[in-house]
Amino acid sequence: MILYFTGTGNSRYIAERIAVALGDELLSMNDRIKAGAHSPVETDERLVIVTPTYAWRIPRIVRDWLTETDFPCGTQTWFVMTCGSEIGNAAGYNQALCREKQLTYMGTAQIVMPENYIAMFNAPQAEEARQIVAKAEPDIDRVISAITANQAFPPTRNNLYDRFMSGPVNPIFYSFFVKANAFTASDVCTGCGQCARLCPTNNITIQNGKPVWGGDCTHCMACICRCPAEAIEYGKRSLGKPRYHFEAL
Ligand SMILES: Cc1cc2nc3c(=O)[nH]c(=O)nc-3n(C[C@H](O)[C@H](O)[C@H](O)COP(=O)(O)O)c2cc1C
Ligand code: SF4
Ligand code: SF4
Repeated sequence: MILYFTGTGNSRYIAERIAVALGDELLSMNDRIKAGAHSPVETDERLVIVTPTYAWRIPRIVRDWLTETDFPCGTQTWFVMTCGSEIGNAAGYNQALCREKQLTYMGTAQIVMPENYIAMFNAPQAEEARQIVAKAEPDIDRVISAITANQAFPPTRNNLYDRFMSGPVNPIFYSFFVKANAFTASDVCTGCGQCARLCPTNNITIQNGKPVWGGDCTHCMACICRCPAEAIEYGKRSLGKPRYHFEAL
């Protein structure tokens, strides 16, 4: 089974590639998380978890869902993490999670994809994004080959910097930066409700034809990057920046 979480489509694309190549079932964690569903997940002989990297680890929302969900078949588990540049020591935390869940850890692979974090950084324009995806294709093929051959992924880099970013910096990042209070919608908002439908935490409600953000945001960037009217801003940080989502490529 291939499980994926995504904000802007990079991880879904790779999960779909892996599912097609392996002939395995694909399951969206976004749907499960949005529905508050924690019923046990029956996996076949292998489990592949595809996620973005948030602050040098898998997203906290994914970690929490995995922790609360039973995998009664207890199976070999590979992690595939998309990122803008680096995953730090995410592998160490993925291995610990597998120990906790009694899953057999088969490694973590890093795949550099277009950056989507426009609340902090810049996303690439479409042409540059296409080139980044083209560069990632051989890495995706290597991931598929290793899983097909039932081989563990090679170890990822794990130096002092990586341990620092995935260790103390990760919780500091969540405390100080992961907030929805800077989101606003401008007058070009059509009230279509797409942002509310896409939000994995149901943090957006449409009131009087406009989105209103609550306090349960995981900074997935789905609302701001996938608004068809580009009506959403994140304070001044997103002003003038290209919106990124995979399907638009
Ligand atoms: C909240 C947040 C934190 C991020 N942290 C990292 C990071 O630590 N390292 C990195 O290389 N990219 C980071 N990124 C970039 C994403 O991991 C990357 O663009 C990913 O491919 C997005 O996947 P998606 O399209 O499936 O949502 C971050 C993005 C977001 C939204
Ligand atoms: S997706 Fe954009 S246009 Fe649609 S309701 Fe949300 S902010 Fe408005
Ligand atoms: S409010 Fe926007 S950024 Fe926050 S979790 Fe929902 S869709 Fe993602």
